[in-house]
Amino acid sequence: MSPEERRFFRLQIALAPQVVEDAEALADRAARTLASVLRRKKSAIVALPTGRTPLRLYERLAILRSEGLDTQRMRIVSVDEYLGVGPEDPVSLFGWLSRVALAPLGVTEDRVFRVPAEAQDLARKCRAFDRDLERRGGLDLAVLGLGWNGHVAFNEPGARATSPTRAVDLAAGTLERNRRYWGGSRELPARAVTLGMRAILGARRILLLASGSEKAVALALALRGPVTPRVPASLLRLGRLTVIADRSAASRLSHVD
Ligand code: PGA
Repeated sequence: MSPEERRFFRLQIALAPQVVEDAEALADRAARTLASVLRRKKSAIVALPTGRTPLRLYERLAILRSEGLDTQRMRIVSVDEYLGVGPEDPVSLFGWLSRVALAPLGVTEDRVFRVPAEAQDLARKCRAFDRDLERRGGLDLAVLGLGWNGHVAFNEPGARATSPTRAVDLAAGTLERNRRYWGGSRELPARAVTLGMRAILGARRILLLASGSEKAVALALALRGPVTPRVPASLLRLGRLTVIADRSAASRLSHVD
């Protein structure tokens, strides 16, 4: 660990999340935050998550678009994909993002940077991906859901603040939850590619969304515990982080101070 990392790891910042009533209010607040970024910079580079948490956010954004918000010029970074899974595969996370967010927001393929997921020559492609993102000035905004064990994108426990975009092993609990999400009808790859913590922490703004009581412990650890690779979401405190949580997700914050 470098001296700089050690210094970072000693940081103990008690962050105040924006706590809203429920998942609807969370989506509304998150959509307004994203819209304010897009009003300042129409071609902002925005990382968008997959999962249950951002579903309503994408619906809200589509409504804002119908009311005149220019969403179609933003540039999107997809944050994760199962290893070896192409966009046409029914379990592709990029395919999901295309259907649920990109199509309704009018974002075309040429404005999307997908994390590479083809097994061949992957390490080199991941390095090229990070370099390319950096050359374009990095992320203007990273929107992230909070994983059950504190993961963000697929940066599972053990990820470091300097971790690049790379292939990772998924935690057993993550696989199990994701299998349930797809109806349990099919085995999912146990490896995936994730946008690295380094690219996420370099974002000009990070927006972490936490919804539901299943996230309460992870959120408490992320915001009130030590900044540690054991809880990747805690590393977000090293960046310019805004947290929006609903009441259920925020319910354990006071217990761990
Ligand atoms: P969820 O997933 O939004 O489906 O809860 C979040 C995550 O695992 O990153």
